Amino acid sequence: MIKDNVRDAINIQMNREFFSEFLYLAMAGYFESVNLKGFSRWMQVQAQEEHAHGMKFYGYLVDQGARISIDAIEAPQAEWANPLAAFEHALGHEQRVTGLIHDLMELAMSEMDHATAGFLQWFVSEQIEEEANATEIVFKMKLASAEKGAVLLYLLDHELGKRGKT
Ligand SMILES: [Fe+2]
Ligand SMILES: [Fe+2]
Repeated sequence: MIKDNVRDAINIQMNREFFSEFLYLAMAGYFESVNLKGFSRWMQVQAQEEHAHGMKFYGYLVDQGARISIDAIEAPQAEWANPLAAFEHALGHEQRVTGLIHDLMELAMSEMDHATAGFLQWFVSEQIEEEANATEIVFKMKLASAEKGAVLLYLLDHELGKRGKT
């Protein structure tokens, strides 16, 4: 049986994942408003991923026989100064989520809750990817505005990335 404090902490994180879904949907809407359809598409897929994360926590609580507790989700920010600011926000958000997942893991470990620690390991790995993806995009956006010839550099990088095994 899962302990009450671990159950409550997982419920809170489940709701936070749904907030992440809302935040990325808000960013998708912002990108639509500045006619960046590709950026909006990326954010819509990201929102779907966050929904799936929330449902993973949901499924875990159900498997543990715990009661699901759905909270009100606060309205996310709706406007950003520019596209880079939105992606920097996304990166900062993922860094905060990583810290929260680590806090959860520490709670599970301190409670000797091996099942929850094992379950959370997927999220620990997922956060590495989440931060890496956002970092790469922020870096490329900064490059695009800072360097002359950045577009050619980007296209060349894309071309080199297609190289197969020898
Ligand atoms: Fe997530
Ligand atoms: Fe995320």
